[in-house]
Amino acid sequence: MPEKQSVLTLITGADKGIGFETAMELGRLGQHILVGSRDKSRGFRAVKRLHQQRIKSDLMILDVTSAASIRAVADRIRNQFGYLNILINNAGVAFDHHESALTMSIETIRRDFDVNFFGLIQVTQAMVPLLLKADHAKIINVSSNMGSLDLASDPTSQFYNVSSLGYQASKAAVNSATITFSKTLAHVGITVNAVNPGYTATDFGGRFGGTQTVQQGAARIVSLARDLDSEVTGTFSENAGKLPW
Ligand SMILES: NC(=O)c1ccc[n+]([C@@H]2O[C@H](COP(=O)([O-])OP(=O)(O)OC[C@H]3O[C@@H](n4cnc5c(N)ncnc54)[C@H](OP(=O)(O)O)[C@@H]3O)[C@@H](O)[C@H]2O)c1
Repeated sequence: MPEKQSVLTLITGADKGIGFETAMELGRLGQHILVGSRDKSRGFRAVKRLHQQRIKSDLMILDVTSAASIRAVADRIRNQFGYLNILINNAGVAFDHHESALTMSIETIRRDFDVNFFGLIQVTQAMVPLLLKADHAKIINVSSNMGSLDLASDPTSQFYNVSSLGYQASKAAVNSATITFSKTLAHVGITVNAVNPGYTATDFGGRFGGTQTVQQGAARIVSLARDLDSEVTGTFSENAGKLPW
């Protein structure tokens, strides 16, 4: 009998923070983790730590803003494995530190969009042909409650007075892409969902007062990713449940 194929999972920005914790937890559940990292030495250290836990993993040097880098990773996955089960679009940045929308430079907003939105779109487009080769496949977009238009426009929400235009708009765009891709891919059985990890004490979230542990930050992503048979698609959720778009 042919050996059963491992569940193969690519996580962008997986060398630290929520991405690395997600890699560790899904790896412990038996998934084979492709660690997306644009920093070679940090990527090697991440894979070494996974190997120490006997987790099957490979380093994929991946800068989500580089078309050549994305192409090279897609080629390598095609040649080495021939399929992909799960894509977790986790890489994210916030170059706008709560600056006023009136004075924030367009360049800063573009840099947020380059990683959070255009990078996510380009990685997704490159990986869909590989996801189509798997029996079950899913895309999980790591978004943010800061991208919720409903919360930003609700005077009773803590986000009503938050202003971080580049980050918020780029994550709102991620949510929009989640809805669009979920409908586009529904007929081929690829689910697409967005997740808010919550305020987490990483290099990223710590700057803004994030207090959750990385385990708490990764929990909703892990629960979606471990349930390969789930047909849930087109949702935005967090540990506490469903979020408004
Ligand atoms: N932490 C929070 O409170 C919080 C809350 C809501 C949403 N999120 C979202 O959660 C995700 C993970 O954030 P985190 O808190 O774990 O942050 P983190 O510790 O800073 O990790 C972010 C990861 O993304 C990578 N990355 C950035 N630009 C990249 C690029 N161009 N190509 C490939 N990788 C790139 C980073 O690599 P480099 O170090 O090389 O840049 C790093 O590995 C992000 O999408 C973030 O928006 C976080």
